[in-house]
Amino acid sequence: MGYSEVYAGWKADPEAFWMEAAGQIDWVQAPSRALNDSRAPLYEWFTDATVNACYNAVDRHVLAGRGDQLAIIHDSPVTQSKHGITYAELQTRVALLAGALRAKGVQKGDRVIIYMPMVPEALEAMLACARLGAIHSVVFGGFAAAELAVRIDDCTPKAIIAASCGIEPSRVVHYKPLLDMAIDMASHKPDFCVILQREQEVAKLIEGRDVAWHSFQYGVTPAECVPVSGDHPAYILYTSGTTGAPKGVVRPTAGHLVALNWTMRAIYDCGAGDVFWAASDVGWVVGHSYICYAPLIAGCTTIVFEGKPVGTPDAGTFWRVISEHKVRAFFTAPTALRAIKRDDPKGELPSRYDLSNLKTLYLAGERADPDTITWAQTHVKVPVIDHWWQTETGYAIAANPMGIEHLPVKIGSPSVAMPGFDVQILDEGGHPVAPGTLGAIAIKLPLPPGTLPTLWNAEERFKKSYLAHFPGFYETGDAGYVDADGYLYIMARTDDVINVAGHRLSTGAMEEVLANHRDVAECAVIGVADALKGQTPIGFLCLNTGSGRAPADVVKECVALMREKIGPVADFKRAIVVDRLPKTRSGKILRGTMVNIADSKPWKMPATIDDPAILDEITQALQTLGYAKG
Ligand code: COA
Ligand code: AMP
Repeated sequence: MGYSEVYAGWKADPEAFWMEAAGQIDWVQAPSRALNDSRAPLYEWFTDATVNACYNAVDRHVLAGRGDQLAIIHDSPVTQSKHGITYAELQTRVALLAGALRAKGVQKGDRVIIYMPMVPEALEAMLACARLGAIHSVVFGGFAAAELAVRIDDCTPKAIIAASCGIEPSRVVHYKPLLDMAIDMASHKPDFCVILQREQEVAKLIEGRDVAWHSFQYGVTPAECVPVSGDHPAYILYTSGTTGAPKGVVRPTAGHLVALNWTMRAIYDCGAGDVFWAASDVGWVVGHSYICYAPLIAGCTTIVFEGKPVGTPDAGTFWRVISEHKVRAFFTAPTALRAIKRDDPKGELPSRYDLSNLKTLYLAGERADPDTITWAQTHVKVPVIDHWWQTETGYAIAANPMGIEHLPVKIGSPSVAMPGFDVQILDEGGHPVAPGTLGAIAIKLPLPPGTLPTLWNAEERFKKSYLAHFPGFYETGDAGYVDADGYLYIMARTDDVINVAGHRLSTGAMEEVLANHRDVAECAVIGVADALKGQTPIGFLCLNTGSGRAPADVVKECVALMREKIGPVADFKRAIVVDRLPKTRSGKILRGTMVNIADSKPWKMPATIDDPAILDEITQALQTLGYAKG
């Protein structure tokens, strides 16, 4: 069956489609039906089933006789080490860790925050939570203590599992002091913290609160897999919205298992014994779905890579890893390939490695620019597949389903909607538009299994953010169009979210930080085009009258403040002091116009602008930073 038949089959009978996919999962109590629409427009899947995610990701492979197969390979150029963990070893390690967590009181439904770098123990911590039915929330290491504190207060964890440090090429990231600071800032206090001491830095433990990873597992009884109901939250992953308060995306257990397992064959064409590598971070959704859960559910070997695309030690690292570990499917962000291409424009490095096992290179996280795709096609010599998804969905909404049919690639498009997703392009009034016409990208409800059923502690915010604008649809926040062949084109965000090096960030959250600087009266943050990172933020600051401060000093302080409040990952390095911000007569800041000016794109004077002369001032200010070149 080709893609069209599979998609049409799903559309004709979604219930049957997902029940069949559910047959690949080992249930404690199998579902009698797939969709539960009793609370529409809020939907759940497989609610009458019971299951355990860790069992499906680990134990069942050992029972099937694949205990000696590698489950995880840790390849860490930053610590110059490599090692493998078999499924049998993983089972032992996860069961012990889960046993130790349980001995200290962690139970089904309790939240556990995980704040760790790219080490296999991060996956073990996630799986140990899944084993107990505890709900993990992984926080990316590049976030500052204040961001961690916000997440502690929102999900009120019983425990936090962290490492002593992470290793960036330029420095050691001191996780433990960041953790201590975050706990000090937060109103909620965890009962205990588990610290993985790394040899690069041994952290000081706080007596009575902190326990060491190894010693707290000593002599405990390994934990068995605890069955949970299908709609039990497997994890909460915070992502950027329009305000400073991150959204806690909830991932339901059974739908997650069923859908991820389905994607491993249909999209990535991988199965048991294949080596799968997603070069992302466990702190992002790609890391959750395709470093940890999906490859393990499918019985693959997954690679935990602790390094960068360039500089660890060079732009050939990715090809070395693919060759050495015989990777079949490789997934990365366009920004990583742009970094590699910058260092190796002629594409000489891929040919130095044996890439014969690699079948496909997948890209996601941001728009894949044609130059990057063409460079990869030419030099890596495999199909380069762009696919489009979001933290909210947990897997691809649109893709080229390599395990079903390799559809023609159209550069600039992540291809076609996957079964489960009825993607429509709507105008402001919610009416479908003709092919080729730009509009808001929406997905007809219900969303398929594994996608977010709600936001943690924020059902109203969920409804308002995603369901209210277009009744009967989920609003993706992306704008784009569909061509006559049904290929989707993702053009822009419709909200304040920007995408910096594949990392999703909120300009609204950044503005909240700047507004807290004592000399800043008013501010705006926009995302401008960046050749390496796709987008990068620029701040505009209006100072309080009579502040008397030198603009350069305030800019420096604001850059430092952003690093302290949001973290280095925000990449906030540029800000300019201006007298006024361009606004509409009703007071709305004209951020879109500022972006077009900065990116030297054609723009029209907004009819509603209050004072057109301000745009000249903004243009001049941007030119001092090397933007708005006309
Ligand atoms: N812990 C702590 N700090 C981190 C971090 C982590 N896990 N990850 C990044 N940072 C820091 C970096 O050290 C850097 O700090 P600096 O300002 O002191 O230099 C800052 O955050 C920005 O990091 P990064 O976005 O990695 O930029 P870079 O200039 O160091 O590297 C790339 C550029 C393109 C090589 C890099 O962005 C990259 O590999 N991107 C791919 C990202 C990706 O895979 N995203 C997938 C999401 S699906
Ligand atoms: P995140 O939730 O961090 O995965 O970010 C999701 C957002 O990243 C999407 O809503 C898009 O704006 C953008 N995005 C992800 N994948 C793609 C893609 N393949 N093409 C264009 N934009 C993408």
